[in-house]
Amino acid sequence: MKTIDILVGTTSGNTEYLADQLQQLLDADGRQCRVHYEPDLVDLDNTGIWLICVASHGAGDYADSMLQFAEQLAACETRLDDLRYAVIAVGESCYDTYCAAGRDADQRLQQLGAKSLVSRLEIDMLEDDPEVKASHWLPQFSQAVAQLPEPD
Ligand SMILES: Cc1cc2nc3c(=O)[nH]c(=O)nc-3n(C[C@H](O)[C@H](O)[C@H](O)COP(=O)(O)O)c2cc1C
Repeated sequence: MKTIDILVGTTSGNTEYLADQLQQLLDADGRQCRVHYEPDLVDLDNTGIWLICVASHGAGDYADSMLQFAEQLAACETRLDDLRYAVIAVGESCYDTYCAAGRDADQRLQQLGAKSLVSRLEIDMLEDDPEVKASHWLPQFSQAVAQLPEPD
């Protein structure tokens, strides 16, 4: 079974908490997950499955724990054609740059040839209960993962 790499982009902890909850739900669903609290492109399997959970900060910047990863992704020259991924973008709708980091990660991964497993989930911390919203979205993600061919 392929491991799901959960990549966490957080500054004040909300997205880390959410990612931990998602890990538990996926574990309970029989999936293997690895959580990366400070993801580093060099350490990640770029032929695997990534679930990117990232909050926006600054003026649409990536949250602190993903700043290095954001730079690496921007500078990446390797094609990521074998990567499958999904993005959960966390933000607040009062910002013009609502969920900009998650939107950027999604766009950049597509540019690099990675395949999105399901449409990006955007969580508005002003309106949504993040755990509830994510738990409603998660089955689509799990189903898409289940349909991937098993590794040899
Ligand atoms: C200084 C600051 C800047 C922020 N900038 C944005 C932004 O540009 N876009 C957005 O959608 N949300 C923005 N937010 C909202 C955060 O994404 C939101 O508070 C989120 O819950 C933070 O998640 P974290 O605790 O995982 O860091 C900002 C929050 C702060 C405190």
